[in-house]
Amino acid sequence: MLTLNYHDMRRIATPAEWEQEIQRRAPLAGLLKNGEPRHADNLGWLDPDECAGEKQLAQIETLAGTIRKEADVFVVVGIGGSNNAARAAISALQRPGEPEIVYMGNTLSPHALVKALERLEGKSVYIDCIAKNFETLEPGASFRVLRKWLKLRYGEDADRRIVVTGTKGSPLDELAQRHGWHFVAFPETVGGRYSGLTAVGLLPMAVAGLDIRAMVAGARETRKWLLAAEPEENLALRYACLRNLLYRKGYRVEMLSAFEPQFQGFFRWWRQLFAESEGKDSKGIFPVAAENSEDLHSIGQYVQDGEPIIFETFLDAQTPNALLSPEPDGVLDGFDYLNGKDFWAVNKIAFMATREAHSRKLPCITLGIEALNERTFGALFYFYPCVCYLSGTILGINPFDQPGVEAYKGYMFEALGK
Ligand code: PA5
Repeated sequence: MLTLNYHDMRRIATPAEWEQEIQRRAPLAGLLKNGEPRHADNLGWLDPDECAGEKQLAQIETLAGTIRKEADVFVVVGIGGSNNAARAAISALQRPGEPEIVYMGNTLSPHALVKALERLEGKSVYIDCIAKNFETLEPGASFRVLRKWLKLRYGEDADRRIVVTGTKGSPLDELAQRHGWHFVAFPETVGGRYSGLTAVGLLPMAVAGLDIRAMVAGARETRKWLLAAEPEENLALRYACLRNLLYRKGYRVEMLSAFEPQFQGFFRWWRQLFAESEGKDSKGIFPVAAENSEDLHSIGQYVQDGEPIIFETFLDAQTPNALLSPEPDGVLDGFDYLNGKDFWAVNKIAFMATREAHSRKLPCITLGIEALNERTFGALFYFYPCVCYLSGTILGINPFDQPGVEAYKGYMFEALGK
């Protein structure tokens, strides 16, 4: 379902060096089975069956079914790991005619919040406030605004329209019991950015009409082939080793690129996963993303000719997702070289040409993806956390905490009088 290839005309990292690194790190492949005991509190995502087994999927589908019967709009209130996976999958895969998904709790901008509320007017609204421990300011503030909005519209019926996702025993759980809100468990052993394939990500996806069983099946399948592979053939280990090898050679930035706007939300999810997991102890590969071909006309210049600190990973979905031809219309516009080609082919040629040019200057990786659908998104949502876990372990940091995020909060809470 996924393939990994390396293109590096300048031989910045030779195939032999890469293989040596993999040999050296081979024992790490075993971590993908059960992980290390010291991280046991954060490894609930490692086996998709733990948080997305039959029982959990059935519960999610039942609740989503109830919401879908009545909701025109479903508001996902959350920030960072609490909304990024759902947002990535829904923005890429939602089909027409499904409930509209609105995101709040990810900003304090009054302009954005007012705009979001405007989208709710005249619609039947349900909300899901997702917050692991319910201490984060942004979702807490938006939840207040939304509760008031719901009470004004629905009176006593408002509480029935509120779902909250938090850890058992958290303040959100207690509030849910007191007010009769529907409570969904945020698994205690899964951190936000690793929670895409738990109820945190799967409930909004199911409300949006996505096939969450196919999503989880993609993850399961990926786990199966990662565990079955010899360490040298294990794509998560190969990728993690290559990233670290390039990092040690001064390539401090990984740029994830795609020629498909369907990956826009995925970029945000991926950036958070790697920045929050690896950027610590004054180390870490800085993750950025490029939406091509548009970004070729902006940061493309830096990538090709700027400081050599970037390596690039192209996401390459293999099968056509739509066909459209730029038909000639008799106007002598100078674009007749497009005759007989469809946009799929033109876009692919732009990608191949970019990789050809970039790989003459910087190390390039291609992650081939069989198709763009729930199954492959499930595979990506599982594969990248595995890469991140192994890569962070090679880097020598704890991929599951985020102490740096606390720094600004101290000043902010003081200024707000918390
Ligand atoms: O990955 C993480 O743990 C974080 O990005 C969290 O998801 C984010 O800070 C939101 O946290 P919470 O769900 O507690 O509001």
